[in-house]
Amino acid sequence: MSRIKVPSGFVIGAAMSAYQVEGNNTNADWWHYEGDRLPRSGSACDFWNRYRDDIELAASLGLRALRISIAWDRIMPSEGKVDDESMDRYIDMVKEIKGHGMEPIITLHHFVNPIWFTTRGGWVREDNVKYFLDFVKYVVDSIGDRVKYWLTINEINLYPVLAYLLGVFPPFVMNMEYMWRALVNLLKANDKAYELVKKPSNQVGLVIHIMPAEPASKLSIADWGLAMGMNYVLNRMIVNTLAKGKLPNWLGGGEIGRLDYVGLNYYAVAKVKFNPLTMGELVTSRQNQRGWIINPSGLKRAIRLTRKIGKPIMITENGIATDNDNDRITYIEKHLTIAIKEKVMGYLYWSLLDNYEWEMGYRAKFGLVECDPATLTRRPRGSAYFLGKLANGGSI
Ligand code: BGC
Repeated sequence: MSRIKVPSGFVIGAAMSAYQVEGNNTNADWWHYEGDRLPRSGSACDFWNRYRDDIELAASLGLRALRISIAWDRIMPSEGKVDDESMDRYIDMVKEIKGHGMEPIITLHHFVNPIWFTTRGGWVREDNVKYFLDFVKYVVDSIGDRVKYWLTINEINLYPVLAYLLGVFPPFVMNMEYMWRALVNLLKANDKAYELVKKPSNQVGLVIHIMPAEPASKLSIADWGLAMGMNYVLNRMIVNTLAKGKLPNWLGGGEIGRLDYVGLNYYAVAKVKFNPLTMGELVTSRQNQRGWIINPSGLKRAIRLTRKIGKPIMITENGIATDNDNDRITYIEKHLTIAIKEKVMGYLYWSLLDNYEWEMGYRAKFGLVECDPATLTRRPRGSAYFLGKLANGGSI
């Protein structure tokens, strides 16, 4: 393969989310279910108290951008109450990121809600959208012009599936109708949030997750059918909706999906095998602690599909969970090469630190920097230096 130079202006950095690194988000719906249905997050990486050191570390590695999220559960710990001190801390995070010469990229919703919101019926109820908008307005008024890149909702297509169809994320519902309702309400929330956040000086986007589905056996019609169905529900449906700027009539119709750019999260492909008892199952691989099947060409397919939306694309997450850092370096090398060739805006590796990997707890190690959950000691891996070098105009 010929060497590829990282073009100037191509932003390389890392991504994180509040709940996965901050620790002790005690007013979040996730926290409420931990210990019972979910592993405990505890102090996570204690980013809430150590963010200055972590931001300095990211900058010292050479990263040029840091994606963080603002925890709604901290800003609005109970209904009608606003915590200005927590907001001040997020403002300080943004200042620190910029002060270290990095671009802050801010997500407003990353899988987690205040417990009071979930108790009120969460995303299934349209009249709950206003609570999220109160939060967005408060954050935007507080942060002002300090942030250029905003992301309203993380994985708007996958979150409703995990929380309301597969029932693996709070509130653990398994109901197809609720999933569609949540998706529509999240899309409406994005639209209204766009209005609140948008200024001539900023870029407001949302994040989709594309996981191309393939048949486990190319000879099995049942596997093909399953893969096509999964591609529609997970990938094509959201792309079509955002491309048309319109909800399908069977979901109520109406204009939807304003955005300046699309955040694309891509990790792996899904190989699906039909099973008459369970409908289907995923083929797993041991190369990734998540079991996912790594295939860099899937990123090319994901970008090309996302391009139908007609907006610039930023890779807002891409990563591998492994203890083998050489595999991580190869993973970054292959995926980043494709991202550059496909001319996206930038590339954020998931994640800066090993962190709380949702229902897997601390078992999956995605970090450029090792973070021991017991001692909280940080140790940059070789991949951190590798990515940092590329972030500063290196070649692959
Ligand atoms: C999510 C992250 C998560 C990562 C790895 C993405 O779907 O946005 O929060 O940690 O995947 O599973």
